[in-house]
Amino acid sequence: MMLPLASRALRIPGEGAIETFARALELEARGADIVHLEIGEPDFPTPAHIVEAGMEAIRSGRTRYGPAPGMPGLRMAIAEHVAATRGMPVDPAQVLVTPGAKSVIFLTILALVEEGDEVIIPNPGFPAYEATVQFVGGVPISLPLRAEDGFRVEIEKLRTLLTRRTKLLILNSPANPTGGALTLAELEAIAEVTLSHNVWMLSDEIYSQLYYSDAPPPSIAALPGMAERTVLLDGFSKTYAMTGWRLGYGVFPAPLVGPVTNMIINGHTCVPLFVQEAGIAALRGIQDCVAAMRAEYRARRDLVVEGLNAIPGLTCTSPAGAFYVLPGISGLRVDSARSFTNMLLKGGVAALPGTDFGRHGEGHFRISYATAPDKLAEGLRRIRAAVERLHQYG
Ligand SMILES: Cc1ncc(COP(=O)(O)O)c(C=O)c1O
Repeated sequence: MMLPLASRALRIPGEGAIETFARALELEARGADIVHLEIGEPDFPTPAHIVEAGMEAIRSGRTRYGPAPGMPGLRMAIAEHVAATRGMPVDPAQVLVTPGAKSVIFLTILALVEEGDEVIIPNPGFPAYEATVQFVGGVPISLPLRAEDGFRVEIEKLRTLLTRRTKLLILNSPANPTGGALTLAELEAIAEVTLSHNVWMLSDEIYSQLYYSDAPPPSIAALPGMAERTVLLDGFSKTYAMTGWRLGYGVFPAPLVGPVTNMIINGHTCVPLFVQEAGIAALRGIQDCVAAMRAEYRARRDLVVEGLNAIPGLTCTSPAGAFYVLPGISGLRVDSARSFTNMLLKGGVAALPGTDFGRHGEGHFRISYATAPDKLAEGLRRIRAAVERLHQYG
């Protein structure tokens, strides 16, 4: 007899990027040569001074349990960093350190969303939002982002989606998978609409340092009345090329700090102290590495956008941040984004269908350009060849 699982265990999906990566690895194991443009992971190594701080912490015995909310020194460094980059006061007592920023999504949704509560989620958007809302029995409500509007949040549409049952609105700027970023005026309009509806906000700012403009991107948390209702999420994975260290954080409104700390105590206890020491070195150390990586991503973005737009049938806007592009395929004779990315995989390029990020991603595919320029150039060459085959025989 099959013992029953909790129904919620059957409601949580995996992640498209990870499945495509696994398929690409399988093909490689059989001898295929694949250019990987599917995973959103920096190809740079973690900067040496950060690695050394982590190693030194292990050598000096920082290998025991630590405080659940995070080391005071790291929480202080994070509070100062967030205050300086967002232009708002941040109390270190409201900073909780987590094993990757993804945990902030999980913990926030678990702490806020009851069965039947509605959560407004950008679509296409990072898949963990919808997956976690489904897991807890909440109702995901899609906020469509359209290429023809530059993947912006349409305020009038947002207004129509807010109901008495709306508990949480999730924003992601700069965004995965679109690369779009919200302007201050847009954030002000969103704040105005949501303040009157009494909803919580999760502002996913994991790409805050990968923004290709002189000033840092604005945060909704810094607007009047918003800090009290906004969980600000950020982390180290993208900014410092530290994906495998698993280090992220949230700045939580005061009433959430106790419950989320208790969830941490009962869930994973704490983030390893040597990882947190590396985090302190990242934030307190010289920031040239961040500027250098940002400049390199920007050059790659320009290369990829230009290369894609030169392929007949593809259209690609130039994103303001993150390291993704979401080109449109409406000029091609294919029945779905997935059949196109399946075709690309056969042609030696792993990319993701836009539908891995929600149904409004149909008609698009996502490329991560956090990859060496020679690989990007080869990827573009293979995409062009696949599209030419389509035009010829499609
Ligand atoms: C939008 C967004 N949020 C959060 C994360 C999670 O980052 P991590 O858990 O590695 O800190 C990612 C990673 O891909 C992301 O793209």
